Amino acid sequence: MIRSVVRGIGSALPRRIMKNADFEGMVETSDEWIAQRTGIRQRHIAGDDETTASLGEAAARSALANAELTPDDIDLIVLATSTPNNTFPATAVEIQNRLGMRQGFAFDMQAVCSGFVYAVTTADLYIKGGLARRVLVIGAETFSRILDWTDRSTCVLFGDGAGALILEAAEGEGTIADRGILAASLRSDGTHRDKLYVDGGPSTTGTVGQLRMEGREVFKHAVGMITDVIEATFSQAGIGAADLDWFVPHQANKRIIDASAKKLGIDDDKVVITVDLHGNTSAASVPLALSVAAADGRIRRGDLVLLEAMGGGFTWGAVLLRW
Ligand code: ACO
Repeated sequence: MIRSVVRGIGSALPRRIMKNADFEGMVETSDEWIAQRTGIRQRHIAGDDETTASLGEAAARSALANAELTPDDIDLIVLATSTPNNTFPATAVEIQNRLGMRQGFAFDMQAVCSGFVYAVTTADLYIKGGLARRVLVIGAETFSRILDWTDRSTCVLFGDGAGALILEAAEGEGTIADRGILAASLRSDGTHRDKLYVDGGPSTTGTVGQLRMEGREVFKHAVGMITDVIEATFSQAGIGAADLDWFVPHQANKRIIDASAKKLGIDDDKVVITVDLHGNTSAASVPLALSVAAADGRIRRGDLVLLEAMGGGFTWGAVLLRW
């Protein structure tokens, strides 16, 4: 049996850090409101020379170094993003070019904040189907470019960044075969479209558009959707919350993360939180959180790790893997 095993992890953040207090002169808000309602304290914001492609490339290079591989070793790049550099070509192909890759193939996936979970699941199937042996899965975003900076209910929530994971085919019995992606569950439901969307696009307004969100409505659905898809993943793998070593959720709001963990019976000390440092980086949030927890030694080889995300569409999903 072929398994998709983690070979490396990396991340990249824009240079500029914007603290909650930096919004106080821009919109009617406060550090206290933002921190209490969301858990966010700061986020990174891309400068003029930083794009989804440049951040994605930097995260990819950091994952390749971590894996002790070169771009020549990669067969496929799957980039999860809702903020591509251009409508086309795919930003994944631009990253492929930036890495100097002349082999393999690359494409973008768009599932908003669930993008990375969708991309990992897709990469796993390409590996299991024999179309690729090593896949660079990237989540990279520059949401600062699609924010309405006069709307206090959205502009304080998001940040920019990128994370990358390298998955590799492993075969055979024994320890290596016990590692890798064990189960996944994906969902979407377009009836929720108007609760979270961008009010522009190439085929409608011909503009890039700005993010619009009914935050309270998103919040209302989030915990139920997240816990449903995680329970489906647990049941596929025949495990329960007590078996988990780490829960690495999408970092949108600490209150949503806490409520989901509580409903599922996951202990607080198994939950990886980076929303305080990065804000909501959409498709980059899960690989950024994974990268932080792997780098500081919390997530170790053999640990059972649960990834989860929910976002615009709505889309939502979970992935269970042994690191
Ligand atoms: N500063 C001060 N006051 C604010 C701010 C702000 N930045 N933003 C909103 N308010 C006000 C509102 O105007 C409202 O005032 P009112 O009572 O006078 O009308 C009050 O605060 C309460 O607003 P709510 O929206 O009810 O606040 P809530 O507690 O729901 O928190 C939040 C808002 C943080 C957006 C929350 O609803 C949330 O996190 N929702 C989920 C977002 C999410 O998870 N998105 C995930 C997917 S993201 C993706 O896919 C791209």
